Amino acid sequence: MFEIQHVSKSFPGVRALADVSLCLQAGEIHGLIGENGAGKSTLIKIITGLYRPDTGRLLLQGNELHLASTRAALKAGIGAVHQERNLIPRFTIAENMLLERLPARMGIVQSAALKQEAFHWLQKLHLELDPEMEVAQLSVAQAQLVEIAKALTLDSRILLLDEPTASITPAETEHLFRIFRALRDQGVALLFVSHKLEEIFSLCDRLTVLRDGKAVVVNQDIKTLDREQVLTAMIGRAQTIADLPARVVDDTQIVLEGRELRTARGHRHINFALHRGEILGLYGLVGSGRSELARALIGVEAVTGGKILVNGQPASPRGVRQAKQKYRIGYVTENRKEEGLLLILDVATNIATTVWERLRHFLGWIPRRSEEQLAGTYVDRLGIKVSSVAQQVGTLSGGNQQKVSLAKWLAADCAILIIDEPTIGIDIRTKGEFHQLIWQLASEGKSILLISSDMPEMLHLADRVLIMNEMQLVGEMQNSRNYKEMSQAIIQAIHTHPAHTEEGEAEVH
Ligand SMILES: Nc1ncnc2c1ncn2[C@@H]1O[C@H](COP(=O)(O)OP(=O)(O)OP(=O)(O)O)[C@@H](O)[C@H]1O
Ligand SMILES: [Mg+2]
Repeated sequence: MFEIQHVSKSFPGVRALADVSLCLQAGEIHGLIGENGAGKSTLIKIITGLYRPDTGRLLLQGNELHLASTRAALKAGIGAVHQERNLIPRFTIAENMLLERLPARMGIVQSAALKQEAFHWLQKLHLELDPEMEVAQLSVAQAQLVEIAKALTLDSRILLLDEPTASITPAETEHLFRIFRALRDQGVALLFVSHKLEEIFSLCDRLTVLRDGKAVVVNQDIKTLDREQVLTAMIGRAQTIADLPARVVDDTQIVLEGRELRTARGHRHINFALHRGEILGLYGLVGSGRSELARALIGVEAVTGGKILVNGQPASPRGVRQAKQKYRIGYVTENRKEEGLLLILDVATNIATTVWERLRHFLGWIPRRSEEQLAGTYVDRLGIKVSSVAQQVGTLSGGNQQKVSLAKWLAADCAILIIDEPTIGIDIRTKGEFHQLIWQLASEGKSILLISSDMPEMLHLADRVLIMNEMQLVGEMQNSRNYKEMSQAIIQAIHTHPAHTEEGEAEVH
């Protein structure tokens, strides 16, 4: 149905794609994987007319395609969910979903029908959202699902999915995969990018692997490949997972505590304690209120009742900066691109910003060379793919931006780190490295509140797991380190309804 022939694309200082060919068949799900910066998104942007290839051709059913714009790609039946969100925050969900279709069909009457269809797709994705709600109100995961729902309304023959499952939990992923499989069975060609190998193996029919811009496995039947072979193709060697050394949690010392916390977002009866040197997991479905709780803890969301205590003292942080300076709480946001990074500045400056504020106090200014040295250490350790530490962060691949944001907070000297979905979009090799860094920080006595929808990650790292549903904590478990037992118990617990009802409580918006 669709063919990419000998496509190359360069940016200043980097060859993003080098002579890449692959083909998509009607009725297949084609996996596309590779490490951060391998060229996956660049390829997708070329197929959707966002980037022009330097050389090479695109063929749709044998005819050469010259895509002058993204609109041209849409017209040709090519739909996409990009890695970064493209929703307009001040528009409603329905408006965002219908935006690209309105010019195609005329008249107000049909727009009502389209809205109906938008609603239909939201429901199909089990998204209980009001289509009239503003997109700015959505969590990262909800926005991702809305973006997918939007792409589905387009009725494309070719659907390109750049890490569609990055921010969502396994339960949501299941619904999504059912829909992808149904589309495949209707003859749609899907190109699916993911860093989660289990997803690739459960969903895809064929696979293409990119490494440093080159296709090292092309159109290969997935049944002929195993995990080791795919990893070797991606990284150039088999992956080894290092065992994490034993660690001691000082459970006599509580560093962060919530007592009967209530927030303007609707949290009720939040009670928890984070100990010194502990990694405390917070698990729940999309929309259960985990990130909102994290934001309330640093004062970005309003706390309307109860208490936050830091080292036993009542605390009321008023935002990211104050939380860090006064209470030594760092918050690695889930929404890194919008909140976590200065996209127009370079890698060295971004990594050094949090350190900078601390050192400025003594030094007055930071020599550029120290910034570069600090950044260099993390660039090496997390394998951040940059042409130099002077590269502008906005031009890095999605995963590499993420790594910069993580590096920034790992370098900051916080006593408490709240880490929200740390390894979304991060490649497998770096994930292991990052887990070791977190573990090491905890060994050094730092305390970590870990929000992750990645169950293996959660159970690999957390000492205890809190479970959240409908803005309340509905369970707490000591991690037995028995994966099967723990994951089953957690999955069961996330559907527990909170014991406290809203009865007699005023509605807060
Ligand atoms: N607009 C741009 N300007 C400069 N360099 C760019 C630009 N877009 C991409 N690159 C570079 O091209 C390379 C490939 O990036 P790409 O975004 O395709 O990677 P990716 O495989 O999607 O990675 P990830 O898994 O992190 O999303 C990277 O080295 C990146 O820095
Ligand atoms: Mg990408």
